[in-house]
Amino acid sequence: KRLVVLVSGSGTNLQALLDAVAATGTEAYGAEIVAVGADRENIEGLARAERAGLPTFVCKVRDFGTREEWDAALAEAVAAYEPDLVVSAGFMKIVGKEFLARFGGRFVNTHPALLPSFPGAHGVRDALAYGARVTGCTVHFVDDGVDTGPIIAQGVVEIRDEDDESALHERIKEVERRLLVEVVGRLARNGYRIEGRKVVIQ
Ligand code: GRF
Repeated sequence: KRLVVLVSGSGTNLQALLDAVAATGTEAYGAEIVAVGADRENIEGLARAERAGLPTFVCKVRDFGTREEWDAALAEAVAAYEPDLVVSAGFMKIVGKEFLARFGGRFVNTHPALLPSFPGAHGVRDALAYGARVTGCTVHFVDDGVDTGPIIAQGVVEIRDEDDESALHERIKEVERRLLVEVVGRLARNGYRIEGRKVVIQ
């Protein structure tokens, strides 16, 4: 299976996928990353892709007249690589109708909280501020909401009294990277069905 990964930052989830494919082999893992896209230049995630010899593309919102034009351009850029699965690994933009029309049902996101709790761009900070005792990460299919699509898998992370946002986020990311590698491999190898809010992996 062909994967396109979308990033906006450090790309450690992308790196985990790259390392898993390299360690396991494309056949055994069931997928290979064929391109990496971003919404901004000069991020470590793009450097990681370039070091791996992968093609990259950048679609910046401000380069387009409207949000819809950006969304269509992003969809075009992704479609050019004919992916079976698109993975948002720290991609910090909400895609629109055009993108979902083309990739809905095969577009996976990873979120650093236990959805439906703490959706949005500050899930780690919000769980901490709320005084939650556990949080974690969620891998889910993207639907037309924000972090509301059908959940595939979750991992739990304890919140410690001494945690600040970055310490907690780093600990979540250790679980998140393993979860994402495991889920993407299973989706690619086994195939899956989405039945309402349930995801069934064969
Ligand atoms: C991940 O925790 C992701 O869930 C969140 O931002 C982080 C991205 O980390 N949206 P990285 O870019 O994969 O290192």
